[in-house]
Amino acid sequence: MVSYKELGLVNSKELFAKAIAGGYAIPAFNFNNMEQMQAIVQACVETSSPVILQVSSGARKYANQTILRYMAQGAVEYAKELGKNIPIVLHLDHGDSFELCKSCIDMGFSSVMIDGSSLPYDENVALTKKVVEYAHAHDVTVEGELGVLAGVEDEVSAEHHTYTRPEEVEDFVKKTGVDSLAISIGTSHGANKFKPEQCTRNADGVLVPPPLRFDILKEVEKRIPGFPIVLHGSSSVPQDMVAIINKYGGALKDAIGIPEDQLREAAKSAVCKINIDSDGRLAMTAAVREIMATKPAEFDPRKYLGPAREWLKKLYMHKVVNVLGSANKA
Ligand code: G3H
Ligand code: 13P
Ligand code: ZN
Repeated sequence: MVSYKELGLVNSKELFAKAIAGGYAIPAFNFNNMEQMQAIVQACVETSSPVILQVSSGARKYANQTILRYMAQGAVEYAKELGKNIPIVLHLDHGDSFELCKSCIDMGFSSVMIDGSSLPYDENVALTKKVVEYAHAHDVTVEGELGVLAGVEDEVSAEHHTYTRPEEVEDFVKKTGVDSLAISIGTSHGANKFKPEQCTRNADGVLVPPPLRFDILKEVEKRIPGFPIVLHGSSSVPQDMVAIINKYGGALKDAIGIPEDQLREAAKSAVCKINIDSDGRLAMTAAVREIMATKPAEFDPRKYLGPAREWLKKLYMHKVVNVLGSANKA
């Protein structure tokens, strides 16, 4: 058993309090390999941003939980070596059981999500409360979720949205003791967040998805003022990356994300953690596809993973500076 404090990590409590007061959001970037971790740390050190390193259960299976934990510890040391001791949280994304959350806490995670959003309300409350009791005894912060996001990924999938019911949030927060709450206001997981027929076209012919339900967010904020809110499924699916992927043999169809101006707007409210995974996947894939296609004689992985890491870093810096607003908040 190891405490995250020995690893140089922090929990999310103080970061969220500052983010709400300052009108910005902390980036929560998923990672499962070294290049992603390096790009996240480089981007956040250069922009002087706090950061949440996020590990899904799929990532844990892919990379091995022990390796990921040592990588997070490495991230702390790497940031210092790059010249800035930025606050780094190691967070379990979409934990689906008490046992998984406990195992991560025992391994050095400083924050966990228990996602009981697909359970009946009372079961979600009971499971979340159990995780909170264990986590708080170790000074680890807990994210719960109410409402279901549409979208399909490895371990996280649902056909349709169920928007968060604002009338439930106060009771949920009170009964469970969670430190933050993920809500469903129209974001969704993956690169295909909307069907083209749900969108309208702007003057330039670009598809514009239906706006996020800011009315639900406002109602939630009214009921739990100043309480940290989390947005999952917040990739914007950059169309230049989609175009590069498709130009070099990819087959991404109808890839549509959340417009960045809406996320910037949300970050100014009680939304203090914004989850981004798919955009990183797209940037990495675009870089690798371009290099594979334009430099067919290349066979040293460093020659395509190195540039992929650069593309990722550029993307993360853009998110921190122009979307989350967390630059210079470390
Ligand atoms: O919300 C889910 C994350 O993007 C992780 O996805 O389960 O494919 O690792 P994953
Ligand atoms: P995206 O698929 O929009 O990047 O969402 C990631 C996420 O919510 C991780 O929990
Ligand atoms: Zn998510």
